[in-house]
Amino acid sequence: MLHHLIETRLHAAVTAHCLGASVADVRVRPCADAKFGDYQTNALMALARERKVNPRTFAAEIAARLDPDEIGARVEVAGPGFLNFHLHPAALVRTLQAAARGEHLCFTPASRPRTIVLDFSSPNIAKPMHVGHIRSTILGDALARVFRLLGHRVITDNHLGDWGTQFGKLLVGWKRHLDTAALERDAVAEMERLYKHVHEASERDPAVLEAARQELVNLQGGDPENLGIWRRMLALSQHQFDRIYQRLGVRFDHTLGESFYNPHLAGVVADLRQRGLARESEGAQVVFFEGDPELEGHPAIVQKRDGAANYTTTDLATLAHRLREWQPDEIIYVTDARQQLHFKQLFAIFRRWHSDARVQLVHVWFGSILGEDGKPFKARSGDTIKLADLLDEAETRARRIVAEKNPDLPEAEREAIARMVGLGAVKYQDLLPNRQSDYVFSWDKMLALSGNTAPYLQYAHARIRSIFRKLADTGGSWRLDETAAQLQLEVPPELRLARHLVNFGFTLEAVAEEHRPNYLCNYLYELAGYFTDFYERCPVLKAPEPTRASRLVLADLTARVLRQGLELLGLEVPDRM
Ligand code: ARG
Repeated sequence: MLHHLIETRLHAAVTAHCLGASVADVRVRPCADAKFGDYQTNALMALARERKVNPRTFAAEIAARLDPDEIGARVEVAGPGFLNFHLHPAALVRTLQAAARGEHLCFTPASRPRTIVLDFSSPNIAKPMHVGHIRSTILGDALARVFRLLGHRVITDNHLGDWGTQFGKLLVGWKRHLDTAALERDAVAEMERLYKHVHEASERDPAVLEAARQELVNLQGGDPENLGIWRRMLALSQHQFDRIYQRLGVRFDHTLGESFYNPHLAGVVADLRQRGLARESEGAQVVFFEGDPELEGHPAIVQKRDGAANYTTTDLATLAHRLREWQPDEIIYVTDARQQLHFKQLFAIFRRWHSDARVQLVHVWFGSILGEDGKPFKARSGDTIKLADLLDEAETRARRIVAEKNPDLPEAEREAIARMVGLGAVKYQDLLPNRQSDYVFSWDKMLALSGNTAPYLQYAHARIRSIFRKLADTGGSWRLDETAAQLQLEVPPELRLARHLVNFGFTLEAVAEEHRPNYLCNYLYELAGYFTDFYERCPVLKAPEPTRASRLVLADLTARVLRQGLELLGLEVPDRM
């Protein structure tokens, strides 16, 4: 992409000018305001300061080493020592023509592909997925798609919560109070009921608590009956989760739940003790973070007094396994904000435990979903909302909109569109806000046909496709790759649209680097805006040749980028709406 080319040449210019300079931080980014140019770097000022030379002079000297024809842009020194780059229209044309000929669609695959493990969704067995798991699923899936498109090797792993003390109570419930008809109807709901029932009973009656403890001990000791029931619970939950994943179009390469790591837990604790990382404290094995200003005072237990390992121990074993098995460059965990301390502790212990490991560990955390009353999002009944019901409602509401908007479409097509719009709206609303802020769940907002929403963008795409339907109806034939050569950029709305199109790749890289799909949402929304402006000012089908062909190239590329972008966010994109 153009920003890569400029960056590479800029690096060469800096190293030639000052031998030994580190160019790692010399980056070229799109200008925040187009009136300053297309791209900008502000990194030369720091280099000038280091060398104690005048920053503007320094910037001018570097600029003099850049060949505008080679980088496809005019260079200008600005402000206290910025460089601004103004792209030549010819460079834009070349880039878009390459995309139109079927090379990568305005992005460049990573020059150094990385192996990235993505740990997301990870709901808990015998409990319904809660909204936190929804957000993790949608966010994690979008990140996986972006990394894959950029050419990285992505391994997705659903770290199911399938082991833990809750199974003591669940086993008592299953053996004493199971309602098989209810289990048939909605297995997860029935298991949730059993758990609640036994939990409440155990608060009144110590004998129930003791029974649960005993069942847990038996399960952990490998009792065949208890293991059999546990496997049943696992299969039933997995089945329900899978239906949701299928609806959402999300798939995992691996589903290695917590139980998978059971055989390794004792070894992890022994190893931590042997290296002096964990030590006994009141009967438990604990890692203290002396000398770590952030974690001092927040010790992490890795083995409880009763000898049981916990969430942290399991995550340490998981990390070691992933490292051994996949040699990742990066492991990303997608969970809600409440797990920040857990991951800080986990990463800190791991760094001491495997001090030579170079893997990058990232906790991609997110805020809560709120109801319109500003409180945590719940269904009307007061229970946490069930994901399946929520998706049903999204489709029902979208069906009404589609029926209103386009009553003449055949029933089956209307259904399909309603599904794409409804599910797309839920996903998009989740991905649009900065992930670290809370957002308010609003049916009206997410399904609005105007504003930064899924239906608006899906509609923007369909509207462009309708231009090509019209073209086909009038007998015109169309092939983007064959017409690419006719592209020319003449008037400002064309240029603005083209400039934005070529920044698709930059946007994807920013999403990947900062784990923020909202950058892509905003990019697509702006793209739709530039297209609207272009379409209002520049006739397409009615324009004389060769302008007509050129504008059709721009329109088709816009539709393709919109489609590709929305698909990266996990949305399906109908051709008409
Ligand atoms: N099951 C956990 C929960 O529901 C999330 C697991 C996240 N992944 C991990 N490796 N800890 O809160």
